[in-house]
Amino acid sequence: MTPQMDNATPHEPNASDEASGDRRRISRKGLLKAALVASAAPLLAGGGVALARDAAATGDGPLALTPECDDGDDTTPPQMEGPYFKPNSPRRTSLVTAGTPGVPLTVSGYVFGRACRPVSGALLDFWQADTNGAYDMVRFDFRGHQFTGADGSFSLTTIVPGLYPGRTRHIHVKAQAPGGRILTTQLYFPNEPRNNTDALFNPRLLMNVRNVGNGRQGTFDFVLDVAQTPGPTDPPTDPPTEPGTSWAAGTSYRAGDRVTYGGVAYRCLQAHQAVSGWEPPHVPALWERG
Ligand SMILES: [Fe+2]
Repeated sequence: MTPQMDNATPHEPNASDEASGDRRRISRKGLLKAALVASAAPLLAGGGVALARDAAATGDGPLALTPECDDGDDTTPPQMEGPYFKPNSPRRTSLVTAGTPGVPLTVSGYVFGRACRPVSGALLDFWQADTNGAYDMVRFDFRGHQFTGADGSFSLTTIVPGLYPGRTRHIHVKAQAPGGRILTTQLYFPNEPRNNTDALFNPRLLMNVRNVGNGRQGTFDFVLDVAQTPGPTDPPTDPPTEPGTSWAAGTSYRAGDRVTYGGVAYRCLQAHQAVSGWEPPHVPALWERG
C-alpha cells in the first residue's frame, strides 16, 4: 500500500498527455545545460559508490547534471505524471524476476534535503514501461515503491524501459520525504537520440549510466524540498579543517577542505556533512585526490 500517494491525481490513459509535453517547464538554464550535456556526453568510467553528481567530477568540466544540494534552492525538478501512474504499487526494490525479458538495469542513489543531508524513510514509487514500451495497467508489472535507508540510499532492480511513440527513454518516479510533499518527476538516460526531440526531456534529470556485463547501472540523487537545520557538528562558523586532518563521519566539510583517508590526501569538492559510506575514495563527486 502507498497511502501517502492517495492524493496523487490519476489521469485517464491518453498517450498524447505525456507525449505532447510542456515546453514551459524547460527553463533557459535547462536549455543551456542541455547544450553542455550534448557536448560532454558524460558516462561514468570509474568504480565505487557512484553519486549522480559523479558526472561533474569525471566529465570534461564542472558540469552539474543534477541539482547540487548545497545551495538551498535547487531541488530536483518536477515533471508531469503522465497517463500511466497507478496508486498502491507493491513495496519492493526489484521489479523483475529471472525470466523477465529486457536489459538488466539497476538504479541507485541517495535522497537529500536542502542542506545536503540524507533523507531517511523517503518514499520512492517507480513505474516504467516494459522492454517493448508498454505499461501494464491491469496488474502492477514494473511498478514498486520503497523507502530510503538511514543514509538516504535507495536501489531499484529493473530492466531498461522500452521506447514508445512520442517519448525518449525514461523512468517515472514519485518521491516524498516523510510528511513532505510529493515530487513527481522522470529520470532519463544519456546518449539517447530521442533526448534531442522529446519536449519533456530535462538534462537535470539525466542519470549516470554505465554498462556492466550484460546490463546497465544507473545512478541518480534526488534533492527534495525538505528544510534541514544544521546539526551540532555543522555550525556555519566552523573553521576550515586543517590540511592533513583525517576524514571522519559526522564532520561538516566545505569545498576546498583537505583531509587524509587511508594515507591518501583528498580535497573536498562541495560542502556536505560526511556520513559512513561516503568515504573519500567512494564518492568522487565529493572528494578528489590531491
Ligand atoms: Fe512514460
